[in-house]
Amino acid sequence: MSKIVATGSYLPKKVVTNTELIEQTGIDSSDEWITQRTGISQRHFAAPEERVSDIAIQAAEDLLEQLDEDVVEKIQLIIVATMSSRLPTPSVASQVQRALNIEHAWSFDVSGACSGFVMALEIAEKLGRDQTSGYTLVIGAEKMSEILNFEDRGTSILFGDGAGAVLIEQDGAGLPHYKSSLSSIPDPEDSIRIPSESQPEGLMTMDGRSVFNFVLRNVIPSLANFIENDVGTFDYLISHQANSRFFEIFAKKLNVDLEKIPANIAKVANTSAGSIPILLDQLVKEGNIPLDGSQTVIFVGYGAGLAWGQISLKI
Ligand code: COA
Repeated sequence: MSKIVATGSYLPKKVVTNTELIEQTGIDSSDEWITQRTGISQRHFAAPEERVSDIAIQAAEDLLEQLDEDVVEKIQLIIVATMSSRLPTPSVASQVQRALNIEHAWSFDVSGACSGFVMALEIAEKLGRDQTSGYTLVIGAEKMSEILNFEDRGTSILFGDGAGAVLIEQDGAGLPHYKSSLSSIPDPEDSIRIPSESQPEGLMTMDGRSVFNFVLRNVIPSLANFIENDVGTFDYLISHQANSRFFEIFAKKLNVDLEKIPANIAKVANTSAGSIPILLDQLVKEGNIPLDGSQTVIFVGYGAGLAWGQISLKI
């Protein structure tokens, strides 16, 4: 079977605490409000000159440095999930390919917002069934600080920058015990929207309450249905890191131990497409997921679109 052989991640050096963010932006908020309503204490922000591609490349390099040098030449497919690149083309994936010096590969981006990583993994898994050798690199990368409106207390407190990466060794047989379900529903209100940079209001807007309700009304029943027969059998439910209140609701509504729903939102906030692979890499590096095929993991991503998706696999 194909398998995930390595993970990597990158968080920019600059850490901004809630108190620092409030001081720097002048928003009417408090550390207490942010911590209690979201679970976020701090986030990482990239330097002004760092682009989404730089963030993605750092995550890829973190991953590749654990492997033999010749692995990089065998990467045939690079998919980057991102919504925050200010450069529509070349794609972030093409820039990763160039930086890694890979002569021949197929590289493209997926714009799936906070569901981007699960969408990219789904595409990688499906395309991998035609790929009997070589590797696929899947990255979720965001520079949210570039698209945040720092005068808006409803959004500026929630997001951070960072990237996570996974490498799949393909043999054409698909990932072990792979099961997935991805969906989108129309969102006439554009609950989460990022206009183009050229527009004066080129920053993100979000109706947080509406997104919260979407998770309660759509994502949770769908996830409940997805894991119905597996509740006692999986090791981790690795959720997108949007609000820690969701994890408590998931645990209660899905009848899952909170310990099975790991979180790093307190330290990294919501890094959109970076969220799931950054947390996965943390779990791998801490030794909780040894990548030896012994763990059953469920990924769930949800957000703008409105879109969501869940994937279950042995890892
Ligand atoms: N500090 C202080 N007060 C704030 C605030 C902040 N940073 N942000 C909003 N408020 C205020 C609101 O203005 C509102 O005040 P009002 O009652 O005077 O109008 C009050 O707090 C309650 O607002 P509400 O939006 O109902 O709060 P909430 O409990 O829903 O929390 C979010 C707001 C954004 C944290 C929450 O809705 C959320 O996490 N939504 C999901 C968003 C998300 O995950 N988006 C990413 C895509 S996955």
